[in-house]
Amino acid sequence: MPAVSDMGQVLDPDRIRTLFDLRSSYNVRSGGDYEEDPNPVWRELRERGPVHEGTVHELTGYSRPAMFQGLPYPDRPHFSVFSFDECDRVFRDSETFASSPEAVDPTGGGIGTASSMLSMGGAQHRRYRALVQPSFVPARAGWWITNWIEETVHALIDRFADNGSAELNVDFCAAIPVLTITSSFGVPVEEALHIREVLTDPPQVIRALAPIVAARREQPQDDLISTLVAAEITDEDGARHRLSDTEIYTFAVLLLLAGSGTTWKQMGITLTALLNRPELLGAVRADRSLLRPAVEESLRWSPTDPMFSRFATRDVELAGQRIPRGALVHLCLGAANRDPARWEHPDEFDIFRPMKRSLGFGGGPHICLGMHVARAEISVGIGALLDRLPNLRLDPLAAPPRLIGMYERGATEIPVVFGGS
Ligand code: HEM
Repeated sequence: MPAVSDMGQVLDPDRIRTLFDLRSSYNVRSGGDYEEDPNPVWRELRERGPVHEGTVHELTGYSRPAMFQGLPYPDRPHFSVFSFDECDRVFRDSETFASSPEAVDPTGGGIGTASSMLSMGGAQHRRYRALVQPSFVPARAGWWITNWIEETVHALIDRFADNGSAELNVDFCAAIPVLTITSSFGVPVEEALHIREVLTDPPQVIRALAPIVAARREQPQDDLISTLVAAEITDEDGARHRLSDTEIYTFAVLLLLAGSGTTWKQMGITLTALLNRPELLGAVRADRSLLRPAVEESLRWSPTDPMFSRFATRDVELAGQRIPRGALVHLCLGAANRDPARWEHPDEFDIFRPMKRSLGFGGGPHICLGMHVARAEISVGIGALLDRLPNLRLDPLAAPPRLIGMYERGATEIPVVFGGS
């Protein structure tokens, strides 16, 4: 296995671009070709009322088909929620608003997110989440940073530090999360992109992970696959058993899917917001304790996944709107995070505002499992750029970065120059 420092050879920029450019065919199905700013429309919708009939993309004026959690389901009624309070209420009430339309069978349902804890509810969700939670608590952030994040971040900067210029979105932001999560599984660097490419193809996922699962059963190491292999789950009838291979692969697919694209895009959004406001970047450079509020503000101001969905398990009324049992309820986190009932001047990216919980990582029992890892990746990544690239700024000769995408939002290119005066 090549050292992380040799990764220049194994991280082919064209492959990364295919996976991690929002406009590539890989990403277009979630609305990657949407190039407008949705916030003015979302503001108008929120001002007209917290809940509207229809999907978020249709209400926003995006007319092509778009896939994401809770879509397409053409035979069910769809409602979308735009205020903070109502989105928060739906997230917290997982009995009325479930993450999937039917009970989840974690062993017989195949490998993928539909069989994973993301789709589960109630006690079943708590049991499965408890297995991995210990690896993702704030006290474990140091484990992630020293074992996987720091080395990756510095090896990537080594590749362009002497050039005086770089494109940070693909060459930096995209690679960090995918390498962090795959290395934490024990996947060799040269297979990291391959496994990201085949995540929706279960036989290929098994082929890539089976040797690691077998090796960790023989000899556990300090990594996530060893944790999953050793984990014991208590059934509803009280019996304890080790996870089956299907359950292990499903956990792995969920973590790989949930943990790589999101953090890449949120890091790009944070960098875009800071580079577009050099006085804020300067403030963060001078005082690194501002990195944390900058990351939180980016998650509020422009959450990379601005919509998650739930299924109504009974007839219910939400802010005066009747929602029938079986309907989809789409939570527009992007709109909720700019609700003036909760934040002053909500459209402004303001790293000095009083910190309040936003919905960028969701809420309720399914709140992002990886949020402390994501925060660590973004802070360590941006901190290292500021440490190593003096006078980092947008390339004045290139088009400045823009935020695009419907259900997965992120930056176009982030062309920067550094050094000189
Ligand atoms: C900035 C980056 C990230 C953002 C914005 C984000 C956002 C979210 C959101 C909104 C949810 C809730 C989904 C729902 O309620 O249906 C979620 C769940 C989840 N996230 Fe993240 N995420 C990020 C990074 C990560 C990372 C790095 C990992 C893992 C290493 C991760 C793993 C998960 C998992 C496993 C769930 C499902 C939790 C459950 O069902 O209990 N996420 N994430």
